[in-house]
Amino acid sequence: MHEFQTIIEPFRIHSVEPVAMTTREEREEELARAGYNLFNVPGPRVLVDLLTDSGTGAMSSEQWAGLQRGDESYAGSASWTRFREAVGELFPFEHLIPTHQGRAAEKILFSALGGPGKTIPNNTHFDTTRANVEFTGAVALDLPVPEALVPASRHPFKGNMDVDALRRVLAEHDVPVVFVTLTNNSGGGQPVSMANLRAVREACGEVPLFLDACRFAENAWFVKLREDGYADTPVPDIVREMASLADGMTMSAKKDPLANIGGWLAMDDGALAEQCRNLLILTEGFPTYGGMAGRDMDAIAQGLREAVDEDYLRYRIRSTEYLGEALDRAGIPVVLPVGGHAVYIDARAFLPQVPPLEYPGQALAVALYREGGIRGCEIGTVMFGRRADGSEEPAPMDLVRLAIPRRTYTQSHVDYVIEVCERVARRAGELRGLRIVEEPPALRHFTARFEPL
Ligand code: F0G
Repeated sequence: MHEFQTIIEPFRIHSVEPVAMTTREEREEELARAGYNLFNVPGPRVLVDLLTDSGTGAMSSEQWAGLQRGDESYAGSASWTRFREAVGELFPFEHLIPTHQGRAAEKILFSALGGPGKTIPNNTHFDTTRANVEFTGAVALDLPVPEALVPASRHPFKGNMDVDALRRVLAEHDVPVVFVTLTNNSGGGQPVSMANLRAVREACGEVPLFLDACRFAENAWFVKLREDGYADTPVPDIVREMASLADGMTMSAKKDPLANIGGWLAMDDGALAEQCRNLLILTEGFPTYGGMAGRDMDAIAQGLREAVDEDYLRYRIRSTEYLGEALDRAGIPVVLPVGGHAVYIDARAFLPQVPPLEYPGQALAVALYREGGIRGCEIGTVMFGRRADGSEEPAPMDLVRLAIPRRTYTQSHVDYVIEVCERVARRAGELRGLRIVEEPPALRHFTARFEPL
């Protein structure tokens, strides 16, 4: 039972990394140099970096100890054994294929299962997942529940998949695999309920169901908090139940497993695993390390145990909610309920004077950096507006994601973020959009350059 109002960080800080202050003028220069793309701003010029929660978490003393224990044997290292055991405790799939990060797992799996004429449904594909599906010539189809596209709707499981739509797609298309992303990152860091996962499983029939499980622990914590019947179930049991409904998974260890790099692909199907291992050897490495050093596998093994610790998850989810609630109180439109790893500001509602094709999310992200050195990430028309056929249309939503690195910032950092957002809100009516002056053919948000309108 939790008897205190204040939920403290369940750790002490034992090594610190200085943050250099910058002036507004310096940040203005930085923006011009960066072509108004925050991916081009050097990390040391950012005060509070909320670009991503991926690989940016602070490792524990036990994880650092794990790095020292790392066994760098090329084949069959002790680190591989510890990694395999830790993964298997939560995700007991037959075959485990280690990769250097999540997208390498996606690339391998979709190389094996994708291809022209195929359709791959997901509650919502993340950008790299969509790109890896489309790269094979397959169609990446998003099937979120309708509530997911209404930023202010307070559905407790906005990450759910639209099961009726899935049944129609399965009846009409050639579907080699169905994906469910836990939590739904592009849709607001929203959880998927166990009931929905069960319904998806049933709809799939013989078609394999894979989890994109990057934020599995946060998803499990939401199930425990919000879904009937799970209040007394330990988080690791909830995770195992989610895994039991699937045939395999892709994973980025840079998220919930609390590591700075790493990932894996896992599955029960032996023939598919063999095909994937052959692709793994081609670009990642031998099957007992894939794309990782032995020490990385040790850091992940320990991180997985910490990720399902309930004191950690209570603090983690509450600290994200603290930011979201404060912005909501200040009248800033945010996706509700607040997600697990990030607060998503609805930039289209916040800056109604900026039309979607002038990129309200980008305009807001730039304004937050200019005002207070905060780096968020546009998740909207810049990221998703360019279609595979070359045309451009508004994404379903224009959001700015403020992703919270795990165990990295304190409450006063978050209070500062709130103050900066409030200042931007006071002058929101004056903000203008941008236009793109340079963009690559795919994943343009990483390298595009902009000019203010
Ligand atoms: N799937 C989801 C849901 C993700 O959020 C990410 C990465 C990946 C797959 C790919 O994993 O980065 O290890 O290759 N998301 C990061 C983010 C980059 O900022 O949300 P990766």
